[in-house]
Amino acid sequence: MYLTREEEFILNGEKGEVYEKVFRLLVRLGDIYGADKMIPVGSVQVAGVSYKSIGDPGRDFLEDFAEKGAKVKVLTFLNPAGMDMENWKELGFPKDFAENQIRIMNAFKKMGIVVTATCTPYLAGNLPRFGEHIAWSESSAVSFSNSVIGARTNREGGPSALAAALCGVTPNYGLHLDENRKPNIVINVGVELKCNSDFGALGYHVGKLVKNKIPYFKGIKDANTDNLKALGAAMAASGAVALYHAENLTPEAKIMETKGLENVDVTSKEIKETYEKLNTGKDADIVILGCPHASLREIATVAEKLRGKKLSKPLWICTSKAMKETATIMGYTDIIEKAGGKIVCDTCMVVSPIEKMGYKTTGVNSGKAANYLPGFCKQKVVFNNIDELIKGVL
Ligand code: F3S
Repeated sequence: MYLTREEEFILNGEKGEVYEKVFRLLVRLGDIYGADKMIPVGSVQVAGVSYKSIGDPGRDFLEDFAEKGAKVKVLTFLNPAGMDMENWKELGFPKDFAENQIRIMNAFKKMGIVVTATCTPYLAGNLPRFGEHIAWSESSAVSFSNSVIGARTNREGGPSALAAALCGVTPNYGLHLDENRKPNIVINVGVELKCNSDFGALGYHVGKLVKNKIPYFKGIKDANTDNLKALGAAMAASGAVALYHAENLTPEAKIMETKGLENVDVTSKEIKETYEKLNTGKDADIVILGCPHASLREIATVAEKLRGKKLSKPLWICTSKAMKETATIMGYTDIIEKAGGKIVCDTCMVVSPIEKMGYKTTGVNSGKAANYLPGFCKQKVVFNNIDELIKGVL
């Protein structure tokens, strides 16, 4: 791989041990995947933030980097942490867990990373442009930025994203290249999709089917950005889809050729079967919305549905601090809290230790959350649309 003079210096350790280590990782990745050179990235999103996922070794590694003076070169956001960084006590997060999570966040902050922990950074102040090269790790954010925005990122691991943030570059391979962004299967959607859970069910089904291929959807009549984030998140979770195209909906769809590709039909039968498959529980003891992290429109919708009602069981909406702040200004937080619900920031149902907080069955409208909750959090799942989920906890 071609390296500039400055990059050679870093690799030779002239910028210090930390930079040598992380740059070596990028070079190794580039060599494995046949990159010709490094390319500058406009922004980074780092995963591996929750203490639940990285534990003591991850915490110590990050503190060591921060202590040695590592500093990011580009705008860098974080994936969700293991708890709401402000209201963890009130929400019942364990104290020892909280102490470790705070240490992790402090290490990231010391490195210059924006400690807004969200899987929808594009809603919270980190919005790439069409065609921009970025290095993001969270699979739903990768899918959204590649597919809906038309930015370019591979699905980075936590370490490679951190390396890209510190060096400001990433190896030029995979989805950074035109030739790897072409679809290789057509999905003909012959069913009307009415809400996020329908899009999540479609995504779950298609992800299982296509694995890491690039699907091209035909027949989706209309979808807003919330629907598209639900679709991409589920496909990235049940499969490994990092980019999809949707006719008349996503920006690169019109320049893509679909002639000669394998065609697969999805009808109401497959959507119904997916709902049945994802429902492993009956009565939810908590409902958690906001996977991926809720947009303002999603928060407003839930607030409207909860106006004047009283919940008998907990309901959380996971989102970023930025969304919560606006929701509070608009009065949505107040309506939700009066009903007994909570807007929870910086974390989500999968990376927080909900199984240790006494919850056994979780209600979700997200195909991604439904995919991960049984394995990651030992939860039974009630998968449905928002109206039905709210009915279940009134
Ligand atoms: Fe985000 Fe957590 Fe879902 S990271 S995409 S809310 S599983």
